[in-house]
Amino acid sequence: MTFRTTTNARSRFTTVGAAITLVSALAVTGCGERDAARRATYEASTFTETLAVPPLATSVKDDQGRSSFDLHVREGTHRFGDGEERTAGVNGAYLGPTVRVRTGETVALNVHNGLDEVTTMHWHGLRPPPAMDGGPMTPIEPGHTRTSTWTIDQPAGTSWYHPHPHGETRRQVGRGIAGMFLVEDAGRGLPDTYGTDDIPLIMQSRDVDGASEDEPVVVNGTYHGVLDVTTELVRLRLLNASTVRTMAVGFGDGRAFHLVGSDADLLRAPVQLDRVTLSPGERADVVVTFRGTDGPALLETNDEDGRSGLVLLRPAAALVASPPLPEVLDDITPLTREEAVAEREFELSGHSINGRSFDMNRVDFAVRPGSVERWLVTHPGGGHHNFHVHGAHFQVANVNGGPPPPELSGWKDTIDLPPERSVELLVRFAEHDDAHTTLMFHCHNLAHEDGGMMGQFLLTRSPATHVGHGH
Ligand code: C2O
Ligand code: CU
Ligand code: CU
Repeated sequence: MTFRTTTNARSRFTTVGAAITLVSALAVTGCGERDAARRATYEASTFTETLAVPPLATSVKDDQGRSSFDLHVREGTHRFGDGEERTAGVNGAYLGPTVRVRTGETVALNVHNGLDEVTTMHWHGLRPPPAMDGGPMTPIEPGHTRTSTWTIDQPAGTSWYHPHPHGETRRQVGRGIAGMFLVEDAGRGLPDTYGTDDIPLIMQSRDVDGASEDEPVVVNGTYHGVLDVTTELVRLRLLNASTVRTMAVGFGDGRAFHLVGSDADLLRAPVQLDRVTLSPGERADVVVTFRGTDGPALLETNDEDGRSGLVLLRPAAALVASPPLPEVLDDITPLTREEAVAEREFELSGHSINGRSFDMNRVDFAVRPGSVERWLVTHPGGGHHNFHVHGAHFQVANVNGGPPPPELSGWKDTIDLPPERSVELLVRFAEHDDAHTTLMFHCHNLAHEDGGMMGQFLLTRSPATHVGHGH
């Protein structure tokens, strides 16, 4: 339930006239109104509110030497600029604090469910043991706490956390239960002062009632926020935390930036781009360079749903010098087809994968821990999907029969699949062995996922398997 109608939202969010006029898609529900609404405008002068930056989550060392984080999921109300909404968040009313850990650190994430409904907490992009992964098999009842603990075994990267309860994921994520999960390692010479030159941008097409289409986009919960830039290089951790919207993010004036990381890892070397497409769940770690004479830069998305302003980056008159962008970031050893011990095909159509809809009681297959598999994912057409797998990271071996574009050259866990795109993925699975708790693969459009566009597998050496429900 919300406090406003979509029609009201449109009139409040549409500001017409003046200086910089850009075409934007704003709230609209009726199909007939859609084209007209696309020609609604946004302008730099409407970016007035200071961009919120999620606080860093605090941790204490517990008696086992683990970094222990308390995450309280709860309801609240949040002001989006046009009035209050009933929302939910973690340790706050909307979104959650940024969990920031180092490779090799052992974490204990204590998730307390303060909602009056079942939830879970999934660590998207991370590779905990299946029983700690927070999928639909491991519900947290209202008033209960569940701890996920494991040792971070992956390099620096930008991941996130969000609920994954069976059939209710869209509603809970749309209400605001989501946060960043950053892994740091030895340092690669990239900007890394959180909140100063390393800024998380949690982009969400607003969907607090879990049923809204074409709503305005908010970033870190701020509508049309301003980020004051004080350094020559600023690193933006872009996360598309939208429930259903795919975004194509870039600057209104077309200026270039460098992509330094995709999903859960850094790239080999920075890739210069002027737009990066992120389907729901995908991340892009980008660095923007400002020189003394550069004016403000308006970050926007210009995608299938129209054009919407995200954040205005406003450089200070005098910028603090930054070290140059490193030329080499990571050594990524390419996986080869020869390493793959199994091959599987996934065809996405309607709201099903290989013609099957999600069933809690059906395990689709078992994967050998630590192995590499070759997955062919095809989307013949109709709708817009993507594909995400838990407990693994993959390299994109090819897209529609050709080499992947440079922005898909790193390790990923989610890939965009617009119609008629087929991809070959070389998937590296985590080492865990669990014959009872499944891991998920699914379309990360949360309406599709909740509608059954998901399957499950076991990561195990054990031949006899059955699914446990974690109750
Ligand atoms: Cu981001 Cu299965 O989820
Ligand atoms: Cu995930
Ligand atoms: Cu889909």
